[in-house]
Amino acid sequence: MAMELKSKDEIRSIRKAGQIVAACHKAIAKRIAPGVTTLEIDRFAERFMLERGAYPAQKGYKGYPYSICASVNEVVCHGFPDMVPLSQGDIVTIDMVADVDGWKADSAWTYAIGTPSRETGRLLKMTKLALNRGIAEAKPGNRLGDIGHAIQQCAEQAGLRVITSFTGHGIGRLLHEPPQVDSKGRAGHGERLREGMVITIEPILTIGNANVYIGTDGWTARTIDGTMSAQFEHTVAITELGPVVLTR
Ligand code: MF3
Ligand code: CO
Repeated sequence: MAMELKSKDEIRSIRKAGQIVAACHKAIAKRIAPGVTTLEIDRFAERFMLERGAYPAQKGYKGYPYSICASVNEVVCHGFPDMVPLSQGDIVTIDMVADVDGWKADSAWTYAIGTPSRETGRLLKMTKLALNRGIAEAKPGNRLGDIGHAIQQCAEQAGLRVITSFTGHGIGRLLHEPPQVDSKGRAGHGERLREGMVITIEPILTIGNANVYIGTDGWTARTIDGTMSAQFEHTVAITELGPVVLTR
């Protein structure tokens, strides 16, 4: 499949889905606390989307069984929601996709439960900054490598590592469309960014070793050394005015 450019109308459709994802994240941010389980958050997010006319598009995607991914502490991504209560000092990445009338938007935030340690707080802050540095490069004329380079620079200057086994992607009618959007790269290299591209930018950073392994459920990815990882993701349109975040 070739990379698809979206019309302004199509971008508006993706934004509708994006607004629901953003509102859902805000609602979760208010509710998340010690004692809450990720299965409760899954039920909440599913109902939140369905009540607003959106379908939680991760559910059933390649057989994925839940509406959200909930990745606690050393889980890098694609963790299954479960009945374990979150506790003070944990972090959890909640990743979700809303589909409205066939158009999809994808966003992940990492939440701290209670007050994070200094080291963990810094990981969250820098991962968010890396995402924003990547977004700033998402404008016509730049190249994919500019996005990856900005993310990688930001992470490495902070003494953190980028987990490169998972990437961003084009998004629209399908959850995963070309191009692949790496969180590493060389400035000035890779595919040219063009007006009408809609992509996700989704850096995952860790304090420790950036290698991962997949658990026996076939989905849950963990850092091999058990150190924490964090992820922030937005769906971004590349427009004549520059990057427009559709999931904010
Ligand atoms: N939202 C994820 C992403 O960023 C999708 C994970 S695949 C799923 O690409 F099946 F777990 F949903
Ligand atoms: Co994504």
